[in-house]
Amino acid sequence: MKNKLQRIREDFLKQLAEIKDPNFLHELEIKYLSRKGELSELMGGLKDLSVDLKKEVGELANSVKKELQEKFNEASKALNNFSGKNNVVDVTLPGTKLERGHLNPITLVQNELEDIFTSLGFMILDGPELESDYYNFTALNVAPNHPARDMQDTFYVDLKNKDGQYDLLMRTQTSPVQVRAMQKYGAPLKALIPGRCFRNEATDARHEHTFYQVEGMLIGKNINFANLKSFLEIVGQKLFGPSTKLRMRPKFFPFVEPGNNGEYTCFLCQGKGCRVCKNTGWLEIVGAGLIHPDVLRAGGIDPEIYSGLAFGFGLNRLAMLKYNINDVRLFNSGDLKFLEQF
Ligand code: DAH
Repeated sequence: MKNKLQRIREDFLKQLAEIKDPNFLHELEIKYLSRKGELSELMGGLKDLSVDLKKEVGELANSVKKELQEKFNEASKALNNFSGKNNVVDVTLPGTKLERGHLNPITLVQNELEDIFTSLGFMILDGPELESDYYNFTALNVAPNHPARDMQDTFYVDLKNKDGQYDLLMRTQTSPVQVRAMQKYGAPLKALIPGRCFRNEATDARHEHTFYQVEGMLIGKNINFANLKSFLEIVGQKLFGPSTKLRMRPKFFPFVEPGNNGEYTCFLCQGKGCRVCKNTGWLEIVGAGLIHPDVLRAGGIDPEIYSGLAFGFGLNRLAMLKYNINDVRLFNSGDLKFLEQF
């Protein structure tokens, strides 16, 4: 009986080693390890043996059975891993989607503007969001008690400077970087300044305390109003398409003279009139003008030699028009359902 056990063991291991296809494993299992298999059959004969032999052969048979079962399990695991179900690649299944980040619509519009202006030879500049009262207002021709300050209330930092004045505020516009840039680079100068601005606003669908602007300026010799007009026309055509027209309407901004609002043909209705342009056919997009001599002086540039043009866009408004966004507060909401659409 011991010999028979030995033979079964050897046969089993030999056959197991030869199996390359997991489908044949089952046959082997039935033949040797199942309830009606050779091992069980042999163990069924144990009852006819003497008590001593029964113990000895029984123990041996059990250890062989355990060994064969383990070897079988190992082989079956290896074969299945290699070519079994787990490893089948169904190329028709959709792949696992990689989560990708999204650029904020403001960033998309900003990138577009930066491309347009760098192609026109402008450099892109940055400036501080926590700004001094001087650069944000005074240097831009808005004296401390000037009524124009009322239009741009903001958040002040509760810290007095050495003259006992509250001096630091969150900038209300990107315009302060005009004077900073003039002081740093002098004339001639072509610069585009995108950035975040702040105002003490009661927020609603069209007003927000934190928003984005892009400022632009071009300083050189003999820069005049005709230059401003043709320049804004080019910008409008690059932004909204070649058939875009410009209309300029006078508007007061303390740091330019003369100042105006630039309006472009509504790109949604091609100027026919629609809900977005309030049936006028025009979209108010850009504030602009010729830089006031006092502002040039504050920047250390002689207005007798140089003149310049300046303009400012609201980036949120551009993005709202372009992507049909109806509430400015969505930009700061951190709402992924909103952001994932871009
Ligand atoms: N800073 C102005 C604002 O926030 C926008 C502006 C208007 C900028 C006219 C300019 C400009 O450079 O010339 O309303």
